[in-house]
Parts: sequence; C-alpha cells; structure tokens
Amino acid sequence: MTQETGRTTHFGFETVPEEEKAGRVHGVFTNVASKYDVMNDAMSLGIHRVWKDAMLDWLAPRPGQRLLDVAGGTGDIAFRFLNRAPGASAVVCDMTEGMLIAGRQRAEAENMADRLDWVVGDAMALPFESGTFDTYTISFGIRNVTRIPDALREAYRVLRPGGRLMVLEFSQLPNPMMQKAYDLYSFNVIPPLGQAIAGDRDSYQYLVESIRQFPDQDRFASMIADAGFDNVKYRNLSFGIAALHSGWKI
Ligand SMILES: C[S@@+](CC[C@H](N)C(=O)[O-])C[C@H]1O[C@@H](n2cnc3c(N)ncnc32)[C@H](O)[C@@H]1O
Repeated sequence: MTQETGRTTHFGFETVPEEEKAGRVHGVFTNVASKYDVMNDAMSLGIHRVWKDAMLDWLAPRPGQRLLDVAGGTGDIAFRFLNRAPGASAVVCDMTEGMLIAGRQRAEAENMADRLDWVVGDAMALPFESGTFDTYTISFGIRNVTRIPDALREAYRVLRPGGRLMVLEFSQLPNPMMQKAYDLYSFNVIPPLGQAIAGDRDSYQYLVESIRQFPDQDRFASMIADAGFDNVKYRNLSFGIAALHSGWKI
C-alpha cells in the first residue's frame, strides 16, 4: 500500500502525486522491456554504447570487485563491468521485473549467468546491507526515481568506505542553438520511432519529457555532494547530451 504524502512530482511534463510516479514508471518499462535494447540502438543511432563504454573507461573496474548496478534493466553496464574485470561479480537491481527477465536471458546467452544476480528492488530503499559494494552504478535510471536524494543516500549507504558512485544520465547542452536542434530531434523523432518499433508512442514521449526535467550538470553534482560523496566530478558526453558524474565514499 502506498501512503499519500500530499507532495507532487513530475512524470515527464505532467505533475502527479509522488505516490503515483513509481507505478507509472514501472508501467513504461514493463511495456518497453522486450523492445528496450533494439529501441536504444535505434533512438541513439548506437551512441548509447559509446557513452556506456566511456562510463566503464572512467570507472576502470578492477579484478574481484563487487558491483551494484541500480536501475540496471537489461544489464548493459553489468556486462561491460564483468567483461573488464576478471573475478568480479555484479548485482543488477531494478524495480521492473520484465527488464530483469530480458537481461537474464542475455546473460544466459553470453555465458555470464554465474557472475550475476538479478534482484527486484527500489533505488530509494535498496534491499542490501550497508557497506557491501565496491562500486555503485546507475545508468539512465536516476531521472526516473521519485526522490533522487533518497536514491543517492541509499547509494552512499550500500557502498563500502573507499567505494565509488558513477551515474550516467541525460543532461543539458550548454549551447542554446544545439539544445534547440536536439529538442527538435527528440520531440519529433523519438515518439514516432517508439510507435513504429515498439508500438508505444506514450512511453517514448515520457522518455523525452523526463530528460528535460533532470537537473543540469552542476546542480546534480551538488545533489551528489549533499548525499555525502567526496571528490564529485563530471564529464560531458556528446557536448552534454549526456553526462557522467563520479563521487567517492571516503
Ligand atoms: C532507461 S532504463 C535504463 C536501463 C539500463 N541501466 C541502461 O542503461 O540501459 C531505466 C530503468 O530504471 C528502472 N527504474 C526506474 N525507477 C526505478 C527505481 N526507483 N528503482 C529501481 N529501478 C528503477 C526502470 O525499471 C528501468 O529498467
């Protein structure tokens, strides 16, 4: 049962009661789960792969490390992590079971199933003990979370001292002309593409709207620092269409 808080938040450009958002986000990802990987390549022309590789380059996983990939969906980050770090293990946690089912099928096809666990859970109340992971990642997940500060606090809690947080998320282009061109592309191309490939225009309309609502690079860096992380830094990807944020639990 969800408790009514009287607080509101955004679901794309809509204002909704806080307690409604998670259910609606869950609906979006349940609808798109079986087409998620194909749509990612189509929408970004494959560039999401370059951004995810850049995330792993900066993260530089080491052998034997234990990763928690939150909102991990079909496992893109966890697979990359394990491929780069012999003897490492990963837990993919996501609130949408359909996404995890699609990911687990990929893990079996790629012979990685024994190094991975798939856990249904909410980023704002993680079902893990404190201080148990070396690395926490969240890729294109945090903008969907109802209360981002709660998720960042949970990231801090589950990391061991010396552990590292890394976030990959859509961000803001500093140049207004580029932002305008990008808006034209995203609002006019992505929802019709969602309709054509996944038969679901509304989910992809939510996607492009949610990108606009996410805080810019500096504001998000302060939110990470407010959750207790040190040495918070970010790097823009593709001029700021996306950004990587890194922070350490010292
Ligand atoms: C755009 S997908 C990203 C999947 C994957 N990380 C990637 O980069 O391809 C967003 C994922 O966030 C998950 N999600 C959204 N809100 C969440 C929450 N509060 N807790 C856990 N997972 C959440 C959704 O179920 C979905 O699988």
